[in-house]
Amino acid sequence: MPLDSQLRQALTDRLRYYRELGIYDFYRREPSAVAQPEITAPATLTPIPIAEEQLPATPKPKVASTDPSTALRLIREDIGDCTRCRLHQQGRKQIVFGVGNPNADLMFIGEAPGADEDLQGEPFVGRAGQLLNNMIKAMGIRREDVYIANIIKCRPPGNRTPERDECETCSPFLMRQIDAVKPKAIVALGAVAAKTLLAINAPMSELRGRWYDFRGTKLAVTYHPAFLLRDPRQKKETWKDLQMVMKDLGLAMPAKDPE
Ligand code: URA
Repeated sequence: MPLDSQLRQALTDRLRYYRELGIYDFYRREPSAVAQPEITAPATLTPIPIAEEQLPATPKPKVASTDPSTALRLIREDIGDCTRCRLHQQGRKQIVFGVGNPNADLMFIGEAPGADEDLQGEPFVGRAGQLLNNMIKAMGIRREDVYIANIIKCRPPGNRTPERDECETCSPFLMRQIDAVKPKAIVALGAVAAKTLLAINAPMSELRGRWYDFRGTKLAVTYHPAFLLRDPRQKKETWKDLQMVMKDLGLAMPAKDPE
């Protein structure tokens, strides 16, 4: 049966999204007279053959690499000069991919690039970035030792909070970056990062201070450095979160708490 153009477009968009996640094979359940519970035995799944020409023109990621820096380079190439969401038309100067050690044990994930990041093409280089650098230093490590990225890679106009669909469109690339780096621990900075990654809607005070399992990797939540610039009283709690991470990574505790 021919598909109407709206449905066809919706399917095309969905397939492109799955391709960017690295999913190429699709399965459908055998029709059954009796409604089946959600979890059915894999034996009832049949591959759906999808002709190449039916798939959207999104390039299949080039040979996946187990070498983290090659994998990151391939992800960056797949992003290209991205036009997948409205942000490419809303004043972004460049894509802010991510920076740091491709073999990092620790990954920080923020929200979105701001004006400085948009200009320089690197996450966390403005005032919030200076504070993040201090936080990293207080942990006894260097910025170059960790990997830093954001939920979305383009600056939202006026630094507004990213829209849900922008996060959904962009985050598959972040997932691939996490899979490439394979950090031992992730720190989500602020509510947008925490809520997007964990799909939990709760205040920061409830989200922080504990570990989560994020697709097999330990994830901690703490306050965003930009929030700490506005409310430095929360630095104490942030330091507790970072100490929890340090303990897990086997990093030595400093004799004195940072300022
Ligand atoms: N805030 C973020 O969340 N990310 C940046 O890169 C800069 C500021």
